[in-house]
Amino acid sequence: MASIKSSWASHAHRVAPAFAVSQNGQMSARSEGFSNPSSDQSRLAEYRKVSAQSPQPDVIRYAAELLDSGALVAFPTETVYGLGARASNPKAISDVFLAKGRPLTDPLILHVARVEQVHELVSEFPEDAVELAARFWPGPLTLVLPRHPDVLDLITASQPTVAVRIPSHPVAQALLIETGFAVAAPSANRFGRISPSSAGHVVSELAGQYDLLLDGGPTTMGVESTVVDLSGAVPKLLRPGGVTLEELSAVLGQITYVDRVVAAETTNAPAPGLFLRHYSPRTPLLLVEGEESLTQHLIQALGDKGVTARSVEIPHDQIEAARNLYQLLRDADATDAKLLLVRPTQSAGIGRAVNDRLFRAAQGRSLKDCSEESVRRALAIALAESP
Ligand code: TXA
Ligand code: MG
Repeated sequence: MASIKSSWASHAHRVAPAFAVSQNGQMSARSEGFSNPSSDQSRLAEYRKVSAQSPQPDVIRYAAELLDSGALVAFPTETVYGLGARASNPKAISDVFLAKGRPLTDPLILHVARVEQVHELVSEFPEDAVELAARFWPGPLTLVLPRHPDVLDLITASQPTVAVRIPSHPVAQALLIETGFAVAAPSANRFGRISPSSAGHVVSELAGQYDLLLDGGPTTMGVESTVVDLSGAVPKLLRPGGVTLEELSAVLGQITYVDRVVAAETTNAPAPGLFLRHYSPRTPLLLVEGEESLTQHLIQALGDKGVTARSVEIPHDQIEAARNLYQLLRDADATDAKLLLVRPTQSAGIGRAVNDRLFRAAQGRSLKDCSEESVRRALAIALAESP
């Protein structure tokens, strides 16, 4: 381990963070978003292929040693790729925020291998958590629970709660078993952008911002974990994901979910992570909510005005829709279209997660008809926002 530490440390000239972090991880400065001023040339930026089914022990050991020494390791989970850092290392955690350009008001999810480790991160583990853990862990479920006082403020955005999950992906599992410690891992994308469902996406989002990228192929679920807040009187679904509302209701009985909730980017209340501009392609995207034929009519009407619009076709099968969603958005973003149009899928099961991401990718904007007013609005957005 010493050799890795020193080889990594020798690369470790760092960009000064845009905020101050004290020894105990208290943050003491700006809490608004910031952009990464330059890519951190000192990162190792290593790339290793790893078997998704039976990850090579030497590769996993190397990744764990890097995490132990404070490096950033991007790795696959069953949902999306995460950018991992050791949870107890304030410098590594602040580097994650910096690499993503993520505001400090948006807390991170902690990943561990076993339920016993969760007990060290929380101050309460209520009956609902016991039941959900038994049913859905390891898997795409994140629980928000009252935090243990030792968890860094940086991770929780100074909130009284902490988000925790046990991923099921064999690479994530092997890595977390090998480290034995909690790993904070947000999705490995720039803040507000499309989450990565393959290693290639991580490269295009965060080139030069990680020390090691473990390529375990495309992720199976395709959208992020379901986030459930168990810190209040009634369980609250904060982010729909791989574990569906229907499945949660069957276990919990009662759970609240408010569709299309948005939060301002500068606040951390009432629920962080509900930012309107999220999962966004660079090309402006609008939801189309109306008859099936509306998309084609809009493309025609916009084309007549000289603006190329393109439809993003979401598969009917909802599992496929979730799995392919981010690739489809990235593919559409790479075309010469000035505007992307997408029809939401059915809002049930994992379709809720797909529609939530589409709603945020569209910044909540939709077209309901092909009236002159609608076309004018779409044109204005395309002309103002296309890169
Ligand atoms: O599937 C996933 O959860 C992926 C993989 C890598 O595990 N991770 C992920 O992390 O999506 P991230 O940081 O992109 O999203 C975490 C979400 C954010 O919406 C954040 O606001 C929310 O979880 N969150 C974290 N801690 C929270 C807390 N204490 N209370 C409420 N929401 C919290
Ligand atoms: Mg994310």
